[in-house]
Amino acid sequence: MTERLQLVVMISGNGSNLQAIIDAIESGFIQADIKAVVSNDGEAFGLQRALHHGLQTQVIDHHDFETRQQFDLALQTYLKSIDPDFIILAGFMRILGADIIQAFEHQIINIHPSLLPAYKGLNTHQRALDNGETKHGVSIHLVTADLDAGPVIMQAEYPIEKGDSVEDLQSRGHQLEHMMYPQLLAWLGNRTLSVKGGQVFHEDSPLEKPVLLHA
Ligand code: GRF
Repeated sequence: MTERLQLVVMISGNGSNLQAIIDAIESGFIQADIKAVVSNDGEAFGLQRALHHGLQTQVIDHHDFETRQQFDLALQTYLKSIDPDFIILAGFMRILGADIIQAFEHQIINIHPSLLPAYKGLNTHQRALDNGETKHGVSIHLVTADLDAGPVIMQAEYPIEKGDSVEDLQSRGHQLEHMMYPQLLAWLGNRTLSVKGGQVFHEDSPLEKPVLLHA
């Protein structure tokens, strides 16, 4: 029997992606366990979601540290004590430094609201609207030291309609996101997808391009 994946999920806010992952684990769709939910904000609603499902939570508040390096070190020490297979960033709104990324090389995964490599960084929906784009989407990628630039594993796209607002795009994106992490983690959990040396494999072949998930 394949061993169940051990995960840490990191959040900063609402945690709707966390909820989708929890639900998919509880229904048996994902073969994994969430060892801990970490937030940099003690008020994050996602922490309530985690506690409601009996999960271990840990707040490491960046305000408690003078430098980003000190915050990263505290985070790294905690994460090492858990020693998960993967660290899932699900709306975690702090940029991680190079040291912690190296300490968990190819183990950190992020979900980003754009079709990477387009629209790295913040405010992706507004920028896509400002540029008159006709489609936008969501990407899941491995985290590397370059922001939002690691290998993309999965994408899903949606059309931008005339008159759409940022909220319209966010809500369309969220609907896709709530399928994406569960599907990705189900595939990592049953070893359909794997990560070796920074390369993502689909069964035994290197993944040539991101898996495109359809709604
Ligand atoms: C998502 O839109 C994700 O793309 C971005 O942060 C948001 C988190 O939403 N990285 P939630 O906290 O999971 O509801």
